[in-house]
Amino acid sequence: MNRFIGFLALALFIPAAFAAGGGSGIVMESHNDVGNIASLQRGARNFVNYCLGCHSAKFVRYNRVARDLGISEEDLAKYLMWTAEKPHETMDVAMPADDAARWFGRTPPDLSLIARSRGVDWLYTYLMTFYVDESAVFGANNLMLPGASMPNVLWELEGRKEAVFEETVDDEGNSHEEFVEFRQLTEGSLSPEEFDQFATDLVNFLDYMGEPMQLKRQSLGIRVIAYLLVFFLLALALKKEFWKDVH
Ligand code: HEC
Repeated sequence: MNRFIGFLALALFIPAAFAAGGGSGIVMESHNDVGNIASLQRGARNFVNYCLGCHSAKFVRYNRVARDLGISEEDLAKYLMWTAEKPHETMDVAMPADDAARWFGRTPPDLSLIARSRGVDWLYTYLMTFYVDESAVFGANNLMLPGASMPNVLWELEGRKEAVFEETVDDEGNSHEEFVEFRQLTEGSLSPEEFDQFATDLVNFLDYMGEPMQLKRQSLGIRVIAYLLVFFLLALALKKEFWKDVH
């Protein structure tokens, strides 16, 4: 009986915990397009420059990225390969995991498959909703992942912004903090549109990394459809030829 009550309490508690801990409930739509190679190239550059210092992408090899995104071996070595010697190496992190755990309290997770586990909208919202929070260890908080131990590594590009919350009381008398808006405190080196593009390109690259085959699948899909179309026209011509004398 006790066990049953315990189970019941757990069953009731779990959804409540999720509802409370789920952040602001705001999800912004990512408009990334994995078919856009120029965007993927920019995203790869953004990723190695701003993320690879702490996060690895262990399932992704440099030369595969170069081949898929049409980057020459020369540019690959010059612009992308900070943490590797050979093009066939995987995207490893610059910082040893122990140090990272000591500094951040949590080892920054590998990002190879993050787009699959979190989804692109989650990632885009995460990148767009860092805000100043003096009570946090690194002075920054996030709407998507409240209490995140990741510093706001893009603040120089985006500028610093604060989040305005409003206290609301629901029907049952519980008070909630509801997100209202961001207020820009300082300007970044990028305009808001440029920063948006930066984040979109980055999410695009994360999306591609999660499933590199989707590039191939798309181009294959187009070829298959082109083939079917040609075949259809041939069949049509043939049918006309066959039936021409029947009428
Ligand atoms: C200074 C080190 C550092 C850098 C640079 C960094 N991160 Fe992080 N990141 C972290 C840490 C630490 C966490 C763990 C946060 C937590 O769970 O509290 C994290 C968490 C994340 C998560 C959430 C993972 C999850 O599912 O919980 C994502 C997504 C992410 N980082 C993406 C990025 C991207 C994209 C970049 C490049 C723009 C980046 N990070 C740069 C340290 C870093």
